[in-house]
Amino acid sequence: MDQYHRDGFVVVEGFATDDDCAAMRAAADRIVDDFVPAERPTVFTTGAARQAANREFLDSASAVTCFYEEGAFSSDGQLAQEKSRSINKIGHALHDLEPAFRDFTYSGDLAAMANDIGLSNALALQSMYIFKQPHFGGEVTCHQDATFLYTEPMSVVGFWVAIEAADTTNGCLWAQPGGHRSALRSVFKRSSPSNDDGTYFEQLDDTPWPVAPDDLVALPVPAGSLVVLHGLLPHWSDVNRSPRSRHAYSVHCIDATTEYPAFNWLQRPAEMPLRRLDHLLAA
Ligand code: FE2
Repeated sequence: MDQYHRDGFVVVEGFATDDDCAAMRAAADRIVDDFVPAERPTVFTTGAARQAANREFLDSASAVTCFYEEGAFSSDGQLAQEKSRSINKIGHALHDLEPAFRDFTYSGDLAAMANDIGLSNALALQSMYIFKQPHFGGEVTCHQDATFLYTEPMSVVGFWVAIEAADTTNGCLWAQPGGHRSALRSVFKRSSPSNDDGTYFEQLDDTPWPVAPDDLVALPVPAGSLVVLHGLLPHWSDVNRSPRSRHAYSVHCIDATTEYPAFNWLQRPAEMPLRRLDHLLAA
């Protein structure tokens, strides 16, 4: 608790068991196996294609959707490598739709961790399985999670679980100690709170991003480790330049007592309400 409040993050080794990791990994592999790749998504070349890609992204709030790595396609529009090596991540409702992720997320252990750091009314908002593929799994530029999951007051906390060991060669997390006391730089918004397919960033603050290795510390961790990240903490991960993948499962939670504005990209339909991390314990 002290470390989390001082640094804005905390690493807990041995949080997930080998069985937890194996079950989530097997589920992710099966989802990718079942995934039928679309024609080369002509994403970003025409307005209609961009709108369709945005729609798919927004719809993933309440779905299990595979997203390609940037650079997954060669210039002829074919996948440059096998499908299982072409997926960047799966998102964003694994925790409510896939049993392996649901069981892990709502077991009570994450709820206890959330409670310990002061998030006593944690709602599970969003989940991702991130592959960080060997040799080219992409960089995730420095950001604050509150940009993408905004509440008033700020409450989002990221729970990042290493399904495989992560180090500086395969794209581990880096974070800025104490950076959670810096301002929120920007907010990612829907173009209109109605049902528009567009999104944009609204700049709030010009504080420069911290840069590795001077301002950020690497967080190499063994498989099964949990990294808890404050929503205002700048964090980053590099390209995976190693021959090893770096799988991770992350869940983002918010406090049920905060306001969740309609401009947030992630909106769940009424028939799929957010659930408390501890809802199974109460039942
Ligand atoms: Fe993040």
